[in-house]
Amino acid sequence: MAIPKTDFIWLDGKLVRWDDAQVPLLTHTLHYGLGVFEGIRAYKTATGPAVFRLREHNKRLLDSAHICYIKVPYSLEDLNRAALELLRANRQEQCYIRPLIWYGDEAMGLGALNSVHVAIATFTWGAYLGEEALKSGIRAKVSSFQRRGVNSIPTKGKITGAYVNSVLAKREAQLAGYDEAIMLDTFGYVSEATGENIFVVKDGELWTPPLGSAILAGITRDSLMRLARDMNIPVVEREISRDMLYCADECFLSGTAAEVTPVREVDDRAIGSGASGPMTRELQATFFRVVRGEDPRYASWLTPVG
Ligand SMILES: Cc1ncc(COP(=O)(O)O)c(C=O)c1O
Repeated sequence: MAIPKTDFIWLDGKLVRWDDAQVPLLTHTLHYGLGVFEGIRAYKTATGPAVFRLREHNKRLLDSAHICYIKVPYSLEDLNRAALELLRANRQEQCYIRPLIWYGDEAMGLGALNSVHVAIATFTWGAYLGEEALKSGIRAKVSSFQRRGVNSIPTKGKITGAYVNSVLAKREAQLAGYDEAIMLDTFGYVSEATGENIFVVKDGELWTPPLGSAILAGITRDSLMRLARDMNIPVVEREISRDMLYCADECFLSGTAAEVTPVREVDDRAIGSGASGPMTRELQATFFRVVRGEDPRYASWLTPVG
């Protein structure tokens, strides 16, 4: 996707023109991958644009930094305010929000303790896997790349360098003609997709891999588990093997970018009826009502841009 430029980027406390937000070539993070980021969405609601679960995303950003020993010179409130200031300046009705924290270029070498920088960009980003994918579902492939173990690069942080693992799996799947890769963990269980958590529907229950496994603690995952429980759907966090996935009644992926995307096929085997299943459709429809501010029970998940 070519990134559609907006007017401003928030960079180290100031709004700067998009083209003026640059980093030097010897930026530490560019070489060694120790940086952290977030992916957040603002949605159009009847009362103006609102950010979905802004606090939780910025809290995870700070947690990611904490995991990586990065000392961020901004508080959670500062980061929330910065995102809203930028959204007002860029005047977008709905968009994707990308905060990024990285080490500067003062010194080279793995142990260098360089200055910490923070930027936030906003841009339009439609359905991550395509509009058609939201309706009809995607074809996925179990990756030959394993999801990294919890004691290699921590999985609870959104750490820039860790995404090499995801990008390799994604490229491999796309080159083989699939839309997305599903990754197994070091124990052989289903972990998550490259940038999405995974859910399976079986005999009326909703299953997803446990939080303590090698997954990102997805905020969409958390939202959907809450919505499902409120809809009296039994939610079970459990190990899922590859063959359990093949024999699922339904399967879908969740993420800020991918929202709720049905999976209609895994490794050339149809999942259930080979289309978006009834529970997936119901959860997807509920999710979209919630993010668009159409369900007052979850109004606290939305922060109006103002
Ligand atoms: C590896 C990975 N898993 C899961 C997710 C889904 O997380 P969230 O729902 O918070 O966007 C993401 C996206 O941030 C991700 O990068």
